[in-house]
Amino acid sequence: MKSFADLLIAWHAKSGRHHLPWQQSKDPYSVWVSEIMLQQTQVTTVIDYYNRFMKKFPTIKALANADEEEVMQLWSGLGYYRRARFLHEGAQMIVGEMEGNFPSEFDMMMKIPGIGRSTAGAIAAFSFNQKKAILDGNVKRVLSRYFLISEWTGLPQTEKKLWNYAESLLPNKNIDTYTQALMDLGATLCNKKPQCNLCPLKKTCLAFQKGKVHLIPTPRAQKKIPTESTHMIIIKHHDEILLVKRPQSGIWGGLWSLPQHENTSITPKTWIKKHFGLETSLLKKDLKASTTFTHFKLDITYSILEAKSQRSKIPHTWLSLNHIEGAAIPSIIKKILLKI
Ligand code: ADE
Repeated sequence: MKSFADLLIAWHAKSGRHHLPWQQSKDPYSVWVSEIMLQQTQVTTVIDYYNRFMKKFPTIKALANADEEEVMQLWSGLGYYRRARFLHEGAQMIVGEMEGNFPSEFDMMMKIPGIGRSTAGAIAAFSFNQKKAILDGNVKRVLSRYFLISEWTGLPQTEKKLWNYAESLLPNKNIDTYTQALMDLGATLCNKKPQCNLCPLKKTCLAFQKGKVHLIPTPRAQKKIPTESTHMIIIKHHDEILLVKRPQSGIWGGLWSLPQHENTSITPKTWIKKHFGLETSLLKKDLKASTTFTHFKLDITYSILEAKSQRSKIPHTWLSLNHIEGAAIPSIIKKILLKI
C-alpha cells in the first residue's frame, strides 16, 4: 500500500501549485520571506508583495541595511505588521550574529524573530532538504480530518498530538515536494469547501470514512469579544492630512495614523489647539467607522477639521491624499481617508 507521503507527492505532480515565485529558488532568504508573508495571508495576495519585496531587498544584507520606514511601506496592506518588523530585525540579527548567512541549523532558525517551529520546518525542508515537519493552519486541518481528531486544534495537548502525527508521516526523500504538497492539499482541496472526491487520501482519511469531514476541525467555542471606542481627528490642510506615528507596541505598532483624543470633554478644535498648537475650523463631526481585531472590536468616531497652517509643535507628518494608498497606514484609517 502506498504511504500518505507517496500519495501526496504523486498528487502534487499532477495537481499541486508549481509556479509560485518563491518556488523558483531554494535560497533560504527567499523561502524565509515567503513563509513569513504566507503565515497569515493567502497566496494570491502574497505574490505581488513578495516580488516587490525581493526586488527592493534582494539579499539579507540589503534588508538589514534598510530603513524601517521603507520596510513598513512595502508591507502596507498585508496586515500583521509585526511580521515586517521581525523580518527586518531578523536580517539584522543574521548580519550581526550569524556572519550574514541564513543558518541551516533548525535551533538557530528558531532564534530568529518571527520564526516558530512550523516556519523553521518549512525553511529546513524547502531550502536544506531536512526531514522536518510543518504544522500551520492548513496542515492542522488536513491532519485533524485524516486522523479524526475532534478536539479544538488550538489546545496544547491537541497540538502536541498533531505534531507527533506530522512527524510520523514524513518521507525519507523528497521532503521539499512533500511539504509543498501538504500545503497545497490544505489550501486547494482540504479547505472550508472540501473536495473529497478529488483527494488522494480519501481511502484512508478517517473523517471521510465516517462522513465527518464538515465537522472537523472543531471550531473554538465562541467567545464574545468586547467593543472599545475611540475618537480620532482628521486635520486637513488643503489636500494634505496630518498623521502621527503610532508607538512600536500595541495595535498598528509603528504605522502612521490619525491623532486620537480620548478626552472628549473638550472639543476636537480645542484639543488640536492644545496638543498641536494649530488653529482649525470644524468641517464635519461625529462620523463613524469600525474594525475588528482578534480580541476586540474598535468603534471609531471622527471629525474633520481644516488647519489654517501646517506649523505644529509635536512630531507628525503631512501626507497628500494622493499618497495615502501606498503609505504604511492601517487599512481602516486608509478607508476613512479615501472617503473624505
Ligand atoms: N503557505 C505557507 N507556505 C506556503 C507555501 N510555500 N506555498 C503555498 N502556500 C503556503
